[in-house]
Amino acid sequence: QRYVALIPAAGVGARMAAASPKQYLPLAGKPMLRHTLQAFLDCAAIAQVYVVVSAADDYIGDVVADCAGRVTVLRCGGATRMESIRNGLRALDAAPHDRILVHDAARPGLTPALIDKLIAEAGANPAGGLLALRVVDTVKSTRAGRVETTPRDGLWLAQTPQMFPYELLLRALEQAPDPEAITDDASAVEMLGLSPQLVEGHPRNLKVTLPADIGIATMYLTSEHP
Ligand code: CTP
Ligand code: MG
Repeated sequence: QRYVALIPAAGVGARMAAASPKQYLPLAGKPMLRHTLQAFLDCAAIAQVYVVVSAADDYIGDVVADCAGRVTVLRCGGATRMESIRNGLRALDAAPHDRILVHDAARPGLTPALIDKLIAEAGANPAGGLLALRVVDTVKSTRAGRVETTPRDGLWLAQTPQMFPYELLLRALEQAPDPEAITDDASAVEMLGLSPQLVEGHPRNLKVTLPADIGIATMYLTSEHP
């Protein structure tokens, strides 16, 4: 069983509203995606790294120029994150039981230690697993037209990597009803009646989404790894 990374990097970063897609913004001296790739390149368990970009991407060549054959670029990005990942799965080379670790390009704070932890705790689980954070704030809901408080015990925030057997993830994404509604890979696997394992992640693995996240990510990237 091999461990293969698949990094969706075909988004436009609409919420960041920067001049280039957010995965290419400089953070602590390097493009965001270069930090993300480095966590996998520094992790001995990872056999191969694939990155999915859009067909018209002008930036990826420079970012992977020094990655010496360990990163394969797939120019098959789709209209949604889910479609980018599904297209990438169809294009990459893996055996049915190989574990695919899907990880957002926009989470540059990932470390080799967090990848190793996910593999150690969930690598043997046939339903896969993902990094996640326990909810620490009090959670309010306004859905029913009134304010209610949802008990936070047992609530988690999903991170990535999310790791599944290749055959299971491909099947889950091909059967998923609505690409817009699938915001992570685990939810597609859950729809098959399976329970991916939650493994405690770390706040430094935040998804850089809004302009305010740039400063937080820079702070983590210039501080010691856990
Ligand atoms: N992604 C992708 N293909 C898409 C949309 C998103 O590969 N069609 C990737 C992004 O590049 C990112 C990850 O999925 O690494 C998580 O998505 P998100 O944070 O939503 O990034 P964007 O879609 O680029 O940002 P926004 O939603 O603000 O436009
Ligand atoms: Mg998006």
